[in-house]
Amino acid sequence: MTGFSLRSFISQLIIAFLVLSETCNARRGRQITTSSTSLYKKKGSKMLTNSPSKGYSATTFNVRDYGAKGDGKSDDTKAFDAAWTAACKVEASTMLVPSEYVFLLGPISFSGPYCQHNILFQLDGTIIAPADAEAWGSGFLQWLDFTKLIGITIKGSGKIDGNGAVWWHDTPFDDPTEEESKLIIPSNNTMQTSLPIPLNSSLGGRMPGIKPTALRFYGSSNVTVTGITIQNSPQCHLKFDNCIGVSVYNFSVSSPGDSPKTDGIHLQNSKDIIIRSSNVSCGDDCISIQTGCSNVYIHNINCGPGHGISIGGLGKDNTKACVSNVTVKDIIMHNTMNGVRIKTWQGGSGSVQRLMFSNIQVSEVQIPIVIDQFYCDKSKCPNQTSAVALSEINYEKITGAYTVKPVHLACSDSMPCVDVTLTDIQLKPLQEQYHMYEPYCWQTFGELYTPTVPPIQCLQVGKPSSSTAQANYGQC
Ligand SMILES: *[C@@H]1O[C@H](CO)[C@@H](O)[C@H](O)[C@H]1NC(C)=O
Ligand SMILES: *[C@@H]1O[C@H](CO)[C@@H](O)[C@H](O)[C@H]1NC(C)=O
Ligand SMILES: *[C@@H]1O[C@H](CO)[C@@H](O)[C@H](O)[C@H]1NC(C)=O
Ligand SMILES: *[C@@H]1O[C@H](CO)[C@@H](O)[C@H](O)[C@H]1NC(C)=O
Ligand SMILES: *[C@@H]1O[C@H](CO)[C@@H](O)[C@H](O)[C@H]1NC(C)=O
Ligand SMILES: *[C@@H]1O[C@H](CO)[C@@H](O)[C@H](O)[C@H]1NC(C)=O
Ligand SMILES: *[C@@H]1O[C@H](CO)[C@@H](O)[C@H](O)[C@H]1NC(C)=O
Repeated sequence: MTGFSLRSFISQLIIAFLVLSETCNARRGRQITTSSTSLYKKKGSKMLTNSPSKGYSATTFNVRDYGAKGDGKSDDTKAFDAAWTAACKVEASTMLVPSEYVFLLGPISFSGPYCQHNILFQLDGTIIAPADAEAWGSGFLQWLDFTKLIGITIKGSGKIDGNGAVWWHDTPFDDPTEEESKLIIPSNNTMQTSLPIPLNSSLGGRMPGIKPTALRFYGSSNVTVTGITIQNSPQCHLKFDNCIGVSVYNFSVSSPGDSPKTDGIHLQNSKDIIIRSSNVSCGDDCISIQTGCSNVYIHNINCGPGHGISIGGLGKDNTKACVSNVTVKDIIMHNTMNGVRIKTWQGGSGSVQRLMFSNIQVSEVQIPIVIDQFYCDKSKCPNQTSAVALSEINYEKITGAYTVKPVHLACSDSMPCVDVTLTDIQLKPLQEQYHMYEPYCWQTFGELYTPTVPPIQCLQVGKPSSSTAQANYGQC
């Protein structure tokens, strides 16, 4: 009898202890601020840490404390929403996605117009996207969307997996990416894509026509992404739109070379951007720079498979495009469609100015250097006189092996490219059989600062004579 009651007393004690520690954990997770932390804040120093063993501050919001299961099957979207709502209220808080769990998330917005600044999204676990059509309704442009934040960092050793395979093969035939591949890929090339086969999602039913970007930042400043990997996005992997002050480093994108339209990193209307020390493998541009971007520094990137690093297409549907001050430096490209490319549509306006492509090492790259002012997603686009003006485009130390053509510079008749400089260009065909095309230039003006391999004789020295070309040269 005594033994029994003692046992029950002990088990009650254990239960009491469990309940208590559970409450402590929950309180720790949800705690807003303590008087001591606010005291510290006033002094301008770091926040107090009350769980030093874990190395996270008092203001850590673990998604598991908000009901996230992390079993890869349960929908954890609501739990992430709740954890974000709490983290959002605390300056410099941490939203923790712990390692060794797989969180299934539907489309979600981490929206911040009323959030405190400098939130850290610590991603150590894995986040995966649903593969059933139902979760996507009629379609979303973004899967994980961070908007209107000041100071937002995503950091950690975690992964974001877009489960893209169920979307990729639904690509319609008039997809410009496919079209583009057909136009320039020789039949023997490893990058050739197979014809799209409609594939059903895992639960039956087709995925919506709108394919989401995996991770997007919109209208935010001081944004950092580091440590994480994004893989198998339905479409673009990482996008910045309307952001100021972006830093991406020690970051990876990993998707198959034949996954359609899967840009690695996409920049648009954003400035003061550094992307460095990262690896990008995907089915479209490793990095794509669109209109409204300036002061972009891209450094130490491995790119491939993929379509290379691109500026544009700009000026579609007679729009005005402005890109300036972009440096792309110390890049290794392997098995890509292009190396560094600028593409614009006929009929556009605005300008691309002050670009530097430096130390680009290519191997098995179809065309390492491309300017295409006749970009077109059909077999033919009507000729138009207006164009996005290109000037001060500098290439130095572009070396390695190509498989189609070393240099292709096709500029507009009415808006020739000006101040194009080439220094230390050494490009060889991968094998003799690939020596099919000579360097090509059309309406390209500038200077060769050193002899090139192969010799580039098509560049026109000086400036174009046409005065119309000089008028309004790419006002932005
Ligand atoms: C940017 O964010 C980091 C960390 O989130 C913060 O320490 C830094 O002060 C911020 N910088 C600016 C200019 O706001
Ligand atoms: C890069 O990120 C990984 C996590 O993915 C981390 O373990 C490593 O220390 C980071 N390296 C650098 C140089 O920051
Ligand atoms: C593909 O390459 C092989 C040798 O590498 C060659 O014999 C064959 O003719 C090529 N096919 C085409 C279509 O170019
Ligand atoms: C796709 O699903 C539809 C019905 O949802 C079915 O009729 C069709 O056979 C499926 N196709 C494949 C290739 O599984
Ligand atoms: C990129 O790839 C290189 C070579 O494989 C590797 O050393 C480096 O750690 C990778 N970086 C990242 C961020 O994964
Ligand atoms: C050009 O961009 C770089 C960053 O790549 C920046 O440091 C520099 O100040 C910018 N130049 C101008 C004139 O804005
Ligand atoms: C368009 O312009 C290009 C380059 O000047 C020329 O080769 C082509 O024939 C023109 N096409 C039409 C339809 O005028």
